[in-house]
Amino acid sequence: MAREAVYQQSNPQPPGDLPPGDLPPGSDSGDGFSGGDSAGERDVQLRPRRLDEMVGQRDVIERLKIAIDAARGRDEPLGHILFDGPPGLGKTTFATVIPAEMGTTVQMANGAGLSAPKDLLPYLTNVSEKSVLFIDEIHRVPKSVEEYLYTAMEDFRIDIVLGEGVNARTLNFELQPFTLIGATTRAGMLSAPLRDRFQIREHLGWYSKDQLRELVQRNARKLTIKIDEAAAGEIAKRSRSTPRLANNRLHWVRDYAQIKAKGDVTLGVARDSLDMIGIDSLGLDKQDRNYLDTLIRVFAGGPSGLEAIAHTMNVSSDTLEDEVEPFLLRSELIVRTRRGRMATAKAFEHLKLPLQP
Ligand SMILES: Nc1ncnc2c1ncn2[C@@H]1O[C@H](COP(=O)(O)OP(=O)(O)OP(=O)(O)O)[C@@H](O)[C@H]1O
Ligand SMILES: [Mg+2]
Repeated sequence: MAREAVYQQSNPQPPGDLPPGDLPPGSDSGDGFSGGDSAGERDVQLRPRRLDEMVGQRDVIERLKIAIDAARGRDEPLGHILFDGPPGLGKTTFATVIPAEMGTTVQMANGAGLSAPKDLLPYLTNVSEKSVLFIDEIHRVPKSVEEYLYTAMEDFRIDIVLGEGVNARTLNFELQPFTLIGATTRAGMLSAPLRDRFQIREHLGWYSKDQLRELVQRNARKLTIKIDEAAAGEIAKRSRSTPRLANNRLHWVRDYAQIKAKGDVTLGVARDSLDMIGIDSLGLDKQDRNYLDTLIRVFAGGPSGLEAIAHTMNVSSDTLEDEVEPFLLRSELIVRTRRGRMATAKAFEHLKLPLQP
């Protein structure tokens, strides 16, 4: 009864169980171009539903299969799993595929929406045996809520204190044994007690060009697009090692091919269509090139402070630091030194500008 009361009080619209694979439209990393139907819908259309449909991450998949088979063999819930890694590499995908493999349901929550314990309780009280609770952006869960997760994860129990002072009393709720799957792009922001309560921790890394080409080819089949191998390779090369971007690019190339090339995607069509939206051969967009151009032309290749570059470009320094620089650093087009940002020889070459003496 008490459980019911908490449930209704705290959440007039209880979170429903979703059959695995039926995601509400997911977040998009905001890669810029999107046309036609919403990015969320398109995401769902191409999102793998089973582990075998996933591309790359072989070692992660291998380990998860063992854990899933073992848990199923013992008829127990799977241990709690934490996924970390940059946006668009498959954290949410894994979180929906795993319940499908386990033959169970999944509830989806977001750390940003769990600002007080009352926001978390409906999810916890709603878990069924061996079901999955997925908390995306789990680093955004505040400390006060996190403490409830500790006992929930470890002992499948939550303790709620009602009233204050002498009138205070504690209500203990037993929870069904469940699996918590957490996802974060900022693993470093997670507290040690929370991090250590996950039995399985997987880091998702970048995808190789071959893996993304395979992904593009598979998804082209799903979307019934005729694409040749070189064209799929070109899309892969320009997708920054990220499946979400490869899917976004593929959708654009399809639109372009439909209007300009009778639907067939050849290498030339892939190149022309991606050039048209400003995605170049390294996967840089207009803002990335603008950054490099400013650093090289205005600041003679650096070293230059971030603020100075940001002012010249008339863009906030946060945007540059969070959205532009990570890929330029990873591509070795710039380096960060103590004296500021510097363009590398590769950057000069890419923009076809002469190296400064
Ligand atoms: N290994 C994979 N195989 C096939 N498709 C994938 C794979 N990983 C990701 N994708 C595709 O990329 C899209 C984005 O992946 P997903 O939403 O899982 O990323 P994420 O890591 O949760 O990103 P974010 O941090 O932004 O939430 C998915 O819709 C899916 O179609
Ligand atoms: Mg996600």
